[in-house]
Amino acid sequence: MSDPPVPNESTPAPAWEPNIVGFLCNWCSYAGADLAGTSRIPYACNVRIIRVPCSGRVDPLMILRAFREGADGVLVSGCHPGDCHYIEGNYYARRKFIALKQLLDHVGVDPRRLRFSWVSASEGRKWAEVVETVTRELLEIGPYRYDRDGDD
Ligand code: FES
Repeated sequence: MSDPPVPNESTPAPAWEPNIVGFLCNWCSYAGADLAGTSRIPYACNVRIIRVPCSGRVDPLMILRAFREGADGVLVSGCHPGDCHYIEGNYYARRKFIALKQLLDHVGVDPRRLRFSWVSASEGRKWAEVVETVTRELLEIGPYRYDRDGDD
C-alpha cells in the first residue's frame, strides 16, 4: 500500500471550495461533530457550524439568509426521530425543510443545496460521512451565485 501524496508547493490548490453553513442541534449533532473531532476522524473542513438548541429552532429565514450571505450549501442536522430533547422539534424541522426545498426549487435554487440529516451524539463517523457527501455534491453542483438585482 502506497503512502498518500504529500502536498507541496507544486500541488495546485483546488479552484473552488464550497462554503457550507451547518445548523446543528446542541444535544445530538453538535455533540456528534465534537466526537468526530475528538476522535480525530478526518473530514472536509468546509462547514461553518452554528450551534442551535434544537433543529426545530432553525427558521427558514436563517437558511435563506445564509445563502444570501454567500453560502453554497446549508446543512441542518438534529437528533434522530424520537430523540429530540424538545419532543417534536425535529419533526417540525423536517416538515419546514421539505416545504423550503420546494420553495428553493420554485425560485431556481437547486434544492440539493439544502440538506437535512439526523446525527446523534455517538455518531461522529456518520457526521464525517454527511459532511463528505454534502461537500462532494456541492463540488459537482458548483458555486451558488446570489444576484441582489434579481437578474439571476
Ligand atoms: Fe436535537 Fe431537537 S434537540 S433536534
